Amino acid sequence: MSDAGELDALLQEDRRFRPPATFVDQANINDRDIYESAASDPEGYWSKWAAELDWFEPWQRVLKWSPPHAEWFIGGRINVSYNCLDRHVEAGRGDRTALIWEGEPGDARTFTYAELHREVSRFANVLRSLGIKKGDRVTIYLPMIPEAAIAMLACTRIGAIHSVVFGGFSPDSLADRNNDAESKLLITADGGWRRGSVVPLKANADAALEQSPTVQNVVVVARGGDLTEQTAVTMKMGRDHWYHDLVAEVSSSCPAVSMDSEDTLFILYTSGTTGKPKGVVHTTGGYLTQAYATTKAVFDLKDDDVYWCTADVGWITGHSYIVYGPLANCAQVVMYEGAPDTPDRGRFWQLCEKYGVTIFYTAPTAIRAFMRWGDEWPKKYDLSRLRVLGTVGEPINPEAWMWYHEVIGGERCPIVDTWWQTETGAIMITPLPGLTETKPGTATHPFPGIEAAIRDESGEDTTAGYLAITKPWPSMLRAVWGDEQRFRETYWSKWPNVYFPGDGAKVDEDGYLWILGRVDDVLNVAGHRIGTMEVESALVDHRAVVESAVVGKAHEIKGESIAAFVTLKEGIDGSDELLTELRTHVSAKIGAIAKPELVVFTAELPKTRSGKIMRRLLRDIAEGRAIGDTTTLADPEVVKRLQAMHEDEEG
Ligand code: PRX
Repeated sequence: MSDAGELDALLQEDRRFRPPATFVDQANINDRDIYESAASDPEGYWSKWAAELDWFEPWQRVLKWSPPHAEWFIGGRINVSYNCLDRHVEAGRGDRTALIWEGEPGDARTFTYAELHREVSRFANVLRSLGIKKGDRVTIYLPMIPEAAIAMLACTRIGAIHSVVFGGFSPDSLADRNNDAESKLLITADGGWRRGSVVPLKANADAALEQSPTVQNVVVVARGGDLTEQTAVTMKMGRDHWYHDLVAEVSSSCPAVSMDSEDTLFILYTSGTTGKPKGVVHTTGGYLTQAYATTKAVFDLKDDDVYWCTADVGWITGHSYIVYGPLANCAQVVMYEGAPDTPDRGRFWQLCEKYGVTIFYTAPTAIRAFMRWGDEWPKKYDLSRLRVLGTVGEPINPEAWMWYHEVIGGERCPIVDTWWQTETGAIMITPLPGLTETKPGTATHPFPGIEAAIRDESGEDTTAGYLAITKPWPSMLRAVWGDEQRFRETYWSKWPNVYFPGDGAKVDEDGYLWILGRVDDVLNVAGHRIGTMEVESALVDHRAVVESAVVGKAHEIKGESIAAFVTLKEGIDGSDELLTELRTHVSAKIGAIAKPELVVFTAELPKTRSGKIMRRLLRDIAEGRAIGDTTTLADPEVVKRLQAMHEDEEG
């Protein structure tokens, strides 16, 4: 969370940005009454959005709320893949571009809606031929290639539950997720490109599969091009199958199954405050309704837009705003495989120019990196077609917001700073680009139909405290996979019947909401959620480590980076080699995103009298405020002195 001083400075932000009149005139939503009408009849309001989708059978009741369990559009029958594909093809829009994909080396593929429909249907038949039935879990561990979207849509077509695992996760992380979900099938690729190197997904998958007893079959996509030529993969007879062989053998006709609105659509694992990631469960009708509605309203999506969200499909942003929201809207979607600085730092802007991107959605960490790389990169390209810019994943600092506005948006594009989470499924707090006067750094107001508040510990309204979502919403998580108790404890135990997202927030005198960051032991590193406990468990797993404590350390580009304090077993010396080994160990256990930037050996972890680790002190040390030379922590006397000095503060 930001320091109080920093926050006061933020709240004094007096720059205001009105949507340009020309934008307002053409906006999908430009009538302020929407907020009031949604608030006075939220069920009627959400029903109107839901009615823009195609249902096989209408719902009988909009909402049943038995806290903490909600059901939306009860009795309604619908299929997500049908809404993203078939209905557009049936409406005569089959020739319209659905997906514009570009690989990191510059190879490209595009799919019309009719083509994507055929591919998805074929792959759905492949899933069936491998014995996958409605309700079975399928893990998807793919790079950013079209087959990632195809596999997701194919699952939803037959009612299989997908669990997408980000390609940067390690074999151990993949195995944990396979096992928790009891996945029957894994879909992976020989590899993907990242910064000019091959990410060896099949090799990682092979290692994971040694500890994934439920997985019976593996489908392997040949990424193609030089990568497939260079990458030798081992195919295990009877278990592993090439994607291209399987799809060649099946028909391209596979009618979408009728799903109950509350059937599970997918599981997505996310970090929490224990060492074990949570399987966040989303269902069908409500999820699609809110993903669809927010894509249309928040990005002002129109037929001639070219829409690009730079997230990875391994995260919720990729699920809701690369695949389901945009395709349900019949959008033309850009998808890019690689890094923003390969082959050079102008890569994103080159893609924006090449495909005429009009809506661009990225993360503050990327914006801060672009800022540092310099204006010359975006200035080389024609970005004049851009008309809406979005940001998500962490609080955006006003300086980065202003740079985005001026250099990328040419001062004409509204910026939508969208707050939401894996658990919320879709955008919750955001400006509407044709209505909201924005201020740099604030996500402004709840989306119409969403009710948020700031509460203190006891549940009273306050101006600075915890963010709370006070009414159920269609795309809310329905469960933590296989763990009802954790679902209740994590989200519903702070206040009765009110959702606790785990973020701190403030409201300013104009009623704007400022999200301040996590208040639990979850870090936000470059927009990725990482639980301190996960990293601590990975460290303690190393033979040399007795105890560890992990805290966030302010980082110019990533927002936060990971600092680890480690106590070694007696007789083991804290050498530089061991430092490197520990960092590599965490990376191998979890994935490179969790690699600590700083590792400090300490004789003991400073603790309060009641035995709580003094995390504030550790943060001060990591950020250079508490002591000069961190190596002195190896001396038990130094730790004792620090402990005594800071005891009162930490309580
Ligand atoms: O702390 C908030 C931060 O990201 C968390 C959710 O992370 P995740 O589930 O991985 O989903 C990220 C993409 C939706 C939140 O609890 N966060 C997300 N968006 C914002 C944000 N913090 C401030 N402003 C945002 N716009």
